[in-house]
Amino acid sequence: MSASAIVVVGATGLLGEALIELLAERDGLGVEVVALASARSVGKRVEFGERRLKVLDLHDYTFRSSELVLLCVPAKVVAKALPRIQAAGARVIDFSGHLADLPPALPWVANGAVDAAASAFRAAATVNAHVACSLVPLHTLAGIEDVRVNVLQAVSARGRGGISELAGQAARLLNVQAFEPKLFPAQIAFNALPDDNDFAAWTSDLAVLLGIDATSVSLSRAWVSVFHGQTVHVDVLTRKALAAETLIDTWREIPQLEFNSEATLSPVVDGSRGDIIQLGGLRVRARPGGGSRVSYWSVADDVRHATAANGIAISEILIKPDQ
Ligand SMILES: NC(=O)c1ccc[n+]([C@@H]2O[C@H](COP(=O)([O-])OP(=O)(O)OC[C@H]3O[C@@H](n4cnc5c(N)ncnc54)[C@H](OP(=O)(O)O)[C@@H]3O)[C@@H](O)[C@H]2O)c1
Repeated sequence: MSASAIVVVGATGLLGEALIELLAERDGLGVEVVALASARSVGKRVEFGERRLKVLDLHDYTFRSSELVLLCVPAKVVAKALPRIQAAGARVIDFSGHLADLPPALPWVANGAVDAAASAFRAAATVNAHVACSLVPLHTLAGIEDVRVNVLQAVSARGRGGISELAGQAARLLNVQAFEPKLFPAQIAFNALPDDNDFAAWTSDLAVLLGIDATSVSLSRAWVSVFHGQTVHVDVLTRKALAAETLIDTWREIPQLEFNSEATLSPVVDGSRGDIIQLGGLRVRARPGGGSRVSYWSVADDVRHATAANGIAISEILIKPDQ
């Protein structure tokens, strides 16, 4: 092993797999990549470009030569492993939400900037990593007075268990067989389930990323019978009048975004196009008394782009390969 390594904890999960795929595309950021998971996965291998990495047991791993550890496991697993990882001197990026007191890290926008001297980071929640890239420039142009974010969420946000539950329910329903919902509160196959969470933490994080008051942000979500992809409708009231062309020209300058004025956005097609957030359906209307009402759709591969790509962007700032 080289003097330093980037360690993916939860390498067999949906998020860990996406991170390893992006790390392989970037040659491991110039350091060794280590794949860890539970004892259940020891002996499995995960794809790393042309190579396959052996999965090691989190429980036995010493983290002695680890430079950065990406925590893609449930929050309770993070809570247990963190003291051992930090005692070994490794820096961490938490995707589980366990490090709730840390600010949301999202280097694509100014208020999500990463302090390279810090030792622990909390990656911004998926929906915020997704929408902040289009909302921050809108705020800079016209000043956001109020923003509503309505999310249609695929089951991928519940990890491999979410994928199996949708597939299993669909198969049983088609065969007229009974089933018990497990991860979701009710039938998810061929259904849409409103999520009654108040999303207070995500709402206040989005307010931080935008630099506005949390009472100006609202967020709602429904689970939909889709395996992958996040489709979001964004509705904004601005203080200053805004022309659609000005906003589109600004969005076109941002590497994470692609504005599509013609085709209907589809999470199955557009959400799987790697590292790009697809925007469309833009409507800009003048408000009586000044300002504009701006609404649009935004579609992304929530696991790979919005979450894993942000994790890689943070890692690129922190990782210093041996010279
Ligand atoms: N999916 C998303 O879009 C998304 C987005 C943002 C944040 N996150 C967060 O990322 C984390 C992982 O999510 P996921 O969707 O990738 O879940 P997942 O597909 O269910 O994968 C969970 C991973 O955690 C590992 N794990 C579970 N219990 C473990 C233990 N006791 N010791 C060691 N490893 C253990 C699993 O290893 P085994 O295979 O060995 O069980 C697997 O690699 C969660 O905290 C989730 O909230 C996920």
